Amino acid sequence: AAASAVPPVAEEPKQNGKPDGLNEENDPPLFSPSLISAEVTARFPEGYTIRPLRRSDYYGDYLPTLRVLTTVGEPTLAEFNARYDFISSRNDTYYILVICDESATVVGTGAVIVERKFIHNMGLVGHIEDIAVAKNQQGKKLGLRIIQALDAVAERVGCYKSILDCSEANEGFYVKCGFKRAGLEMAHYY
Ligand code: ACO
Repeated sequence: AAASAVPPVAEEPKQNGKPDGLNEENDPPLFSPSLISAEVTARFPEGYTIRPLRRSDYYGDYLPTLRVLTTVGEPTLAEFNARYDFISSRNDTYYILVICDESATVVGTGAVIVERKFIHNMGLVGHIEDIAVAKNQQGKKLGLRIIQALDAVAERVGCYKSILDCSEANEGFYVKCGFKRAGLEMAHYY
């Protein structure tokens, strides 16, 4: 359904500014904002907001914020839209959040991907991924709030746990978020 709700952002932006005329109807949130915990929202610093990703986040600082985490590349609008369509058509599986500052600039993001298992009585597991807070906004507990919000989404959609991989350097952050070391990540790159 979301793939048909294509907003009028079919052309490349002139100055990386959002096209005019975007609204709830032609630029809807990726998933229902009702999944975002009001309790977590209430703890944000004055003026900061949290919301689901939108297609129009191609413009603005969503991609620059992700670059704090890792290489992103320079996706074209068409590439971004194609990936957004895929994710949006599976918005019972992909939950991507952004945090905005007082000027509605994206300054943080995170995702939880819900895996549906046969084991553990058809259990659901949340995989927390791609957490990033803009460099000049770190240390304000925004990262903590992103994790709390994602945790609440995972719990609300029925996950029995959430898991994540991180570097040793970030272990202390996730311990402060209530996670504990469990196992070992292994990778096979192609
Ligand atoms: N090691 C130990 N403690 C930490 C670390 C760390 N690396 N980072 C933050 N903390 C502590 C803070 O001091 C704070 O403690 P306090 O409650 O005692 O004051 C608590 O954790 C919460 O910190 P926040 O202010 O919420 O952290 P911030 O908003 O700066 O976000 C984050 C942390 C997301 C790691 C940020 O530094 C960042 O974006 N880093 C670069 C990208 C990155 O590494 N992302 C995580 C990848 S792993 C993944 O995506 C699953």
